Amino acid sequence: MTRKVDAVERVGVVGAGTMGSGIAQVSAIAGYDVVMRDIETEYVENGFETIENSLGRQVESGAITESEAEAAEARIEGTTDLEDLADCDVVVEAALEDIDVKRDIFSDLDEVMNDEAVLATNTSTLSITTIAAATERPGSVLGLHFMNPVPVMKGVEVVNGEKTDGDVLEFAHAFAEDLGKETWESDDKPGFVTNRILMPWINEGIRAFDEGVATKEDIDSGMTLGTNVPMGPLELADHIGLDICLHASETLHEELGDRYTPAYLLKRKVEAGDLGKKTGEGFYIYD
Ligand code: CAA
Repeated sequence: MTRKVDAVERVGVVGAGTMGSGIAQVSAIAGYDVVMRDIETEYVENGFETIENSLGRQVESGAITESEAEAAEARIEGTTDLEDLADCDVVVEAALEDIDVKRDIFSDLDEVMNDEAVLATNTSTLSITTIAAATERPGSVLGLHFMNPVPVMKGVEVVNGEKTDGDVLEFAHAFAEDLGKETWESDDKPGFVTNRILMPWINEGIRAFDEGVATKEDIDSGMTLGTNVPMGPLELADHIGLDICLHASETLHEELGDRYTPAYLLKRKVEAGDLGKKTGEGFYIYD
């Protein structure tokens, strides 16, 4: 069976958090009808609020017009019922980074979706193959890893599970490109390309701070001014969320050994509830 992007009308998104709402937004901007599902009405409403704010920024910066923003928002339907995704041609799951939660969702999607649907997960470090094995159609499952903030970041990582069909991979590249993104491909190895390399960089930045190499500002300046990245490791950790960084680091440590040990201070910050920008405090304080 060959999936064609031209045939896609409806996109399903599971999870209305930062990543899910961003994926819903870029899909709607690209002209697709979108069904965004989360488990509680409140989470769906929060997703719409994030989308409205982000669309507002895009209007302000001139990236889109007011009427394009309104039309995009009108194309997104919110729901708490997974069955409302049944008519979607492609689903991107962006729920909790927990293998059991994701396997349950994929097992449910397997029941609900038609045979031609492509089932993608936005997981940042978990195994596509393990998630796909919760379905009877592992050939239709792959990783489509968006970057935060989704509406701004150009790149999407396409991840090839052990059993992902070639035409599903091809479809995924074309679909991401249709959303205005550029892609690269990774095999299903822990952390794929991005987090395998990014997480040790972030952890080393945290260790350098904890071991008194420099102030946090100087560590971030050293990397932004010295290597031309947009954010230094501590600022980027706050942006991603320290809980997410810790979870990704723990998965890499478990799978790849001691060279991926999470920084001690990262664990302590998460235990203290300082998760970065989203809680108002991480390595920096946000008003
Ligand atoms: N929605 C819409 N537009 C947004 C936005 C959002 N959420 N956030 C920023 N923007 C827009 C701004 O409106 C602005 O637009 P104009 O230039 O047209 O005016 C532009 O993006 C730049 O924003 P700012 O001027 O506010 O700030 P900035 O120049 O510092 O850029 C940033 C912010 C884009 C986040 C930049 O700092 C950056 O690229 N940081 C690195 C982000 C990164 O590495 N992300 C990947 C993290 S890893 C990941 O996500 C994967 C994982 O699994 C952990």
